[in-house]
Parts: sequence; structure tokens; C-alpha cells
Amino acid sequence: MRSVLAFNDDWLYAPEDLPASAGDAQFTAVTLPHTNIDLPHRNFDNFDYQFISTYRKRFTLPEPLNGRRLYIDFDGAMISATVSINGRVLGDHDGGYVPFSFDLTDYLRDDVSEANLLQVRLDSTERPDIPPYGNVVDYLTFGGIYRDVHLRYVEPVHIEKVFVRTLDVLTDKPRVEADVWVKNQSGSDVTTTLFGNLSWIGENVASEISKNIEVPAGETIKFTLVEEQPKFELWTLDNPVLQDCYISLIQQHVDDQVEVKYAFREAAFKADGFTLNGEHVKLIGLDRHQTYPYIGGAAPERLQRKDADILKHELGTNIVRTSHYPQSPHFLDRCDEIGLLVFEEIPGWQFIGDNDWQALSLRDVESMITRDRNHPSIVLWGVRINESWDDEAFYTATNKLAHELDPTRQTGGVRFFQESQFLEDVFTFNDFSNTIVEPLHTPHLVTEFSGHMFPTKTFDNEERQVEHALRHTRIQNQQFGMRNVTGAIGWCAFDYNTHLNFGSGDRICYHGVMDIFRLPKFAAYFYESQGVETPVVRIASFFTPGDRGVGGIDPFYVFSNCDEVELFFGDESYGRYQPDHENFPNLPHPPFLISGFAHANMWAEQRRDLRVVGYKDGQAAAEQMIAADGVPKQLIMRVDDAELHADGADMTRLVFMITDKYGNRLPYANLVVSFEIEGAGELIGENPFALVGGQAALYVKASKQAGTITVRASAPRLPAAEVTLKSV
Ligand code: GAL
Repeated sequence: MRSVLAFNDDWLYAPEDLPASAGDAQFTAVTLPHTNIDLPHRNFDNFDYQFISTYRKRFTLPEPLNGRRLYIDFDGAMISATVSINGRVLGDHDGGYVPFSFDLTDYLRDDVSEANLLQVRLDSTERPDIPPYGNVVDYLTFGGIYRDVHLRYVEPVHIEKVFVRTLDVLTDKPRVEADVWVKNQSGSDVTTTLFGNLSWIGENVASEISKNIEVPAGETIKFTLVEEQPKFELWTLDNPVLQDCYISLIQQHVDDQVEVKYAFREAAFKADGFTLNGEHVKLIGLDRHQTYPYIGGAAPERLQRKDADILKHELGTNIVRTSHYPQSPHFLDRCDEIGLLVFEEIPGWQFIGDNDWQALSLRDVESMITRDRNHPSIVLWGVRINESWDDEAFYTATNKLAHELDPTRQTGGVRFFQESQFLEDVFTFNDFSNTIVEPLHTPHLVTEFSGHMFPTKTFDNEERQVEHALRHTRIQNQQFGMRNVTGAIGWCAFDYNTHLNFGSGDRICYHGVMDIFRLPKFAAYFYESQGVETPVVRIASFFTPGDRGVGGIDPFYVFSNCDEVELFFGDESYGRYQPDHENFPNLPHPPFLISGFAHANMWAEQRRDLRVVGYKDGQAAAEQMIAADGVPKQLIMRVDDAELHADGADMTRLVFMITDKYGNRLPYANLVVSFEIEGAGELIGENPFALVGGQAALYVKASKQAGTITVRASAPRLPAAEVTLKSV
């Protein structure tokens, strides 16, 4: 039988190129996912991670082979890995964003109790022969074996991969088809039986389908199982029902079984909009880079899932673009679970290399689609290098390959000029016109806007932060009014580290609606107010009297999904306000423009706190208060999770901010915050931390010992803060 085991533990790491003969003393113990160098969140050099490193692991077989084959599966290593075992080179893998595997079986030590030496030479330099490199790139790739590794035991005759697709789900003849590739490494021809339980809902097991199959020695053959009339519930954005299916190979007993999650849904980009299960859905989304402060791309499962949750539940978006490469399987799994649509694309940025480079890019198309085509959240494949020039032969090939590998999904390919040759199914366009251009081709999807046209920091002045939010507001408003535009994905969700050539020189591109710690700017509140169900009131102001020339914060915007809002200074009401339908007629929830209620300095002198109350169906549903005095009153610290896995890799975010008495961040309270940690974990990040924008985060990383972790923080003149979490 198959057995898949986590293989993240007990690696040795050296930040240099070492031969197999080097002693272990030159290495340090690490757990994967791992970044090849710890960095500050900014102000480092983009050459810092560019070196060759060596990973090694000594292991005895966790289970006896019993005639099985043993594979090692890497989810991702940046950017070129050479893998060897017991001195034998198994091969190279070029490209940091897609998985790769090696069959270890023939090179293992005969005696199972003997230790094997696995070694990975990892080149994390920006290799011009490997996408996305060859030219400059506006993001950092970082280095390390930064995703999970598994050991996979399989019988010589085993299931290599499965592609499950649901078809005609809205008709009275829905069906499921599963392509199953069976590989025969047994040395002789084999006859066996392939079984599929293709549709299950709870206890309700639909019929089992079986097929007698023959697989000649040394071959991998594709078989297709079909289930007519499956029982199912549709996967929707509000109720993303996932199905389990089990595919087995059975001779005398079960020789192999894989479980695949999939879903029933129909997604289509059309000339007049995007439909999910036949219903029009306006797409409103953001681009996501997979990198994090301090750890580069080496974020464990929990942080990957959290990003999906932030995009769906804090930013209220319904689509994310995995700019500009295939992202973590954990992130995509979470998108499936919570109903967040995904546009996934191949690695690359404004540059197409020579034939070998293009061959690698085609390999990326294949690896991406083969890995991810069972994810119901993915609705579009990006098969162009982001913002490259046209190349008819190359892009004809990427499109053809994508359609062969997955006939159920449309393709896109992100360009930045409208005259670009339209070889895909969807014209995916980065629209930096500061409006939404009239489409030349449909279906049309805007895949970036804003970005470099208006970088905005959490510590920029208030006007800039408001204008940043309004740019997103205006463009989304415009696209909501255009039937021939399927949606708009803004640049971008989170600030990200970048090369010297881009961003603000401190190695951050401040293009996010959230900062690099995934904490909100005002623009985040715009998105939240459009897509989140719970009532919210977000004042797009820091209520800093005197900052507006005329004095005070008149006018100001409130982002809210309430029907109306009421303004108070102290206990005194200054009237109720309606959403600004006039200027933002197409948005689900136009912002509220509050103006003309007061003259300069009134509130500054009276020192009355600001309060905005939101009403839904006539009832007060949400409110925000801002203190008039602007004095730092609290050092707030919180963790996203109260419990971690004591596995040496798990992490949660530790957010801290300096706030007024109501918990509003004070963007110019640049205090230095110092931390102490006690117990079964360590802090990842800068300590002490010179605060920026009034908010930031570190990560708490679990050690391998279970126990309690306590973090204490202090800042001058404020009461200290403390959080406790458990590691189990
Ligand atoms: C685009 C590019 C993105 C990012 C963005 C910044 O041209 O596709 O990766 O650099 O500009 O606005």
C-alpha cells in the first residue's frame, strides 16, 4: 500500500556549496520550510539570498520497503536543485515554483537500518536561464527548500496522477470523469482492476466504478473512469462544498489508493461577464505575491492558509491572481475550502528567453496544470509571461498545451498593451490607464491596476492614503458598471519585497492595500466594505485636527456596508449620511462622504471624540470611535492563533500596534517596541522593532517541544503587553 510521510524534519543546512564528504559539523539543524537566510523586513540587499547552499538529511527508512518504490517529492525549492543520494546524483530541477520528484529506490542502502545520505545542492542565484529571470523582475524570489517535502512509498504498479473533472453540472446529465495514470515499474506486464468512488456526499456513497486494466512493463497508461448521474451539491462562493473521491488499484487486495478533493461547479468567462454555476458574478480581487517579511517564501501551511482567509474574510474579495507564478498547495487548498476564485499563472516577468528557457516555461505550464487542475477554486490559467511582448509561436504552444492538459478551463495571458495578439480565451489585461479602458476583445478581465501609479505607505500622509483608497474605489466602481468587463483585480493585496530597481529603495514595493505584514491601509477598508458580510464602519481618516489645510478632517470618507451612518462628536449627533450613490453608482456599497458639518478646529478645541455609527435596517450595527487627543494609550499585541503545532516549523503572526484609547493605530507613533519570549518557541523578525505606520508584526515559531509560549512587549511610556499561546 501507498504511504506518504512528511519529510520536513531533521535536515542539515549550510549556506555554502559543500561536497558529500564534508562533515556534519559544518551544518546546522533546520526544519522545512526553510529560507536560506533570515532577513529584516526591508533595508537589505537583494543579493543577500543569492548564493549556493547545501541541504542534507541522514535517514533510515521510516518504513520497510516491502517491495515498494520510494519517491521523494519536493513541493518547491528556489531556484535550481541538484539532488543526490549516497553519492549518486539523481538529477537537477530548474525552477522554484513547481514540484519535482525523484525515485530513490535503486540507490538506497540495502540494509534498512543503515543511514542514507540525501543531499541537495541548491543554487538560489537569479539564474538567467530559468524563468522568471533573464532580466529585471519586480519582486524577490528568495532561496531555500521553502516548501514541504514528502517521502512517498508506492507499489511498483501505482497511480501516478489523477485528474477529476465535473461536466455539464447544470444540466440533467451531469457527470464526473477521472483520468487516472497508472505506472508500472514492476518489470512485467500487469493486469489489475481500477476502482473509483467518484462521488460521495457524507454517508451517501454513489456507485463504485471499476475497470479491468492492462499496463505493460515500464509504461504509464491513462485510463478514464466516468460516473453518470453523480450525487452532488454545487460548489459556490458562499457554500464551497468539496467532494472526496477515492481511486484504487485492487488485485488480491488494495495495492494503491489516492484521495482527491474536487467539486461540482461551472465557471465561464463570457463576453457579457463571468458566470459561476450560470449566475453572473462580478469579479473583484487583488494580486498576491507569496512572500512574507523576514522569511521570504518559506511560510508554513498555517500562514499560507491565513493569506487566503485574509483575502476572503478581511478583504472581501472573490478572486485572487497568484502573480506571477504557481503558489503553495496549502494556499490553493484553502481557496477551495472557503470559496475564493483563483487565476493562476506561470512564472515570468516582461521577458522571454531563448528556446531552452521557453522549454522550461512550457514545462512550467505542464507542472502547474498537472499539479492544480483538481482545484475548483482555479477558474483561469495564465499561460503568458506577465507583461511580455507577443510571441506567436511560443504562446500558441502554451495555449495548446494548457487546453490539452485541461479542456475544462479557459486560458488567459497577462499583457499590458491592448493591441496584443489575442491567442487566449480571455483577454487578461493590466490596465494602468487609471480608468477602465473600453475592451477591444471579450471576455475581458483586468488583472492589475493602480500599483506603481500610486505607491502608498502606512506612514504616508493621510491625503495620500485616502487617495490610494479612492483610486481602488473609482476603478472598481467603473468596472462594476461595465457588462463587457468580467472583473478587476487590483495591484495588489500586500506590500512585498523587491529589487533595487523597483519600489522605494528600501526593498519594499508599497503597492498593497495592506502592508507587508498583511495589516490594512485605508484601501483595504474599501475592499472589506464591498465583500464582507458582517457590518463594518471604517473611517478613512486618522482624525488629525489641522492636517487638511482648512483645518480638521472635513470632508472625510467612511467605508461601510451599512445602509446609512451617523456622525457624532462626543454625544452630539451631526446628522445621518447616505452612501455616495452619485459618484459611485455601481458599487455594492458606495463609500459615505461626510462634509460640511463643522468649521475648522471645532473638535480640536473641544476635544470631543469622533464616533461614526452604521445602521442596517434601521438598527445600529457597527461603529468606530477615534479619540480626539491623538495620544498613544495602548501597546496592543495579538496572535492570529492560540495554538501551534510543536513541529519546529509552525508559525503564527504576532501583530502589534500603538493605538489611541479606542484601538486605532497611530500612524506616526514610531516607538521602538521590545520583545521577550519564554517557552517553547522563538520570535522571527526584528527585535527590538522600530515601528512604522503604527503597526507591524513578527512571527512566533514553535519549537519541537510542546508547551506554553509567552511573549511580552514593551514600548516607552506605555503599559506592557503580553500574549500566551500553546504549542501541542
Ligand atoms: C506591473 C507588474 C507587476 C508590478 C506592477 C506594479 O507592471 O505586472 O508585477 O510590478 O506593475 O505596479
